[in-house]
Amino acid sequence: MNQANHSPRAIVRLIEPQRVTEGAGVLLRRSIATRTLDYLDPFLLFDHFGSDDPAEYLAGFPLHPHRGIETVTYMLAGIVRHRDTLGNAGSISAGEVQWMTAGRGIMHEEMPQPHDGKMEGFQLWVNLPTKLKMTAPRYQQILANEIPALTRADGSVIRVIAGKAENVTGAVTEIYADPTYLDVSLPAQTTFTHPIPRGHTAFAYVFAGQGKFDDTARTVLAPHLIVWGEGDYVTATAAAAPLRFLLISGKPLREPIARYGPFVMNTRAEIEQALRDLQNGTFVQR
Ligand code: FE2
Repeated sequence: MNQANHSPRAIVRLIEPQRVTEGAGVLLRRSIATRTLDYLDPFLLFDHFGSDDPAEYLAGFPLHPHRGIETVTYMLAGIVRHRDTLGNAGSISAGEVQWMTAGRGIMHEEMPQPHDGKMEGFQLWVNLPTKLKMTAPRYQQILANEIPALTRADGSVIRVIAGKAENVTGAVTEIYADPTYLDVSLPAQTTFTHPIPRGHTAFAYVFAGQGKFDDTARTVLAPHLIVWGEGDYVTATAAAAPLRFLLISGKPLREPIARYGPFVMNTRAEIEQALRDLQNGTFVQR
């Protein structure tokens, strides 16, 4: 084995999610797009929403725009009903993913609803490179049974939303940032190792249980986001109880970022243009 190509990544940031209110009054946990962590190139925002109390989310996210980014919604429980001004409508149910490329502009609403009293999910924003910021909007809607899973002899289950885990290729394809998006469930005391290309950004969002995410003695408890530093692979080991986390990685764009709410462009002038388009009614183009 060539040691130079086999160095493990270590945790460089441990982020405690912040409670924020978004949309028309949805209480959620935010780990990226805060004062602590503005962005993690190419990832611009990461939210974990979910509550046993519908009053904390039923107001939802009424009609709002996006430009210059992709939004990725992954549901664990409940449903998000969505509708946009281009005429697209549908719902994202438990176990499903919607990978939406907003491109030059989308105006939509996202309304969480409970199922059997529960609602929980995640939203990730992925940046688009300059050359694709004004691309045509696109949806990839992936049903639960279309997300391939890698089930291992030790009982661990890895749902492959994007990227690759061993020989299993994810359901979402053709995304510029070359992302990996895995939902990893580990039984107690089992370990998962995953290679990540050098130079790619990698983080995990731990949302159930606790475990170790590098060679140190540090145990990370849910809910926390960890950022890994440079290296060739990551490892996660569950403590005495089952561990569940999202493993997300992608290629940094290293381009200037000008952000204003739901718009993420390269310059202030482009943000001002987005606001003008919104005012003039020219934001959404068929
Ligand atoms: Fe949205």
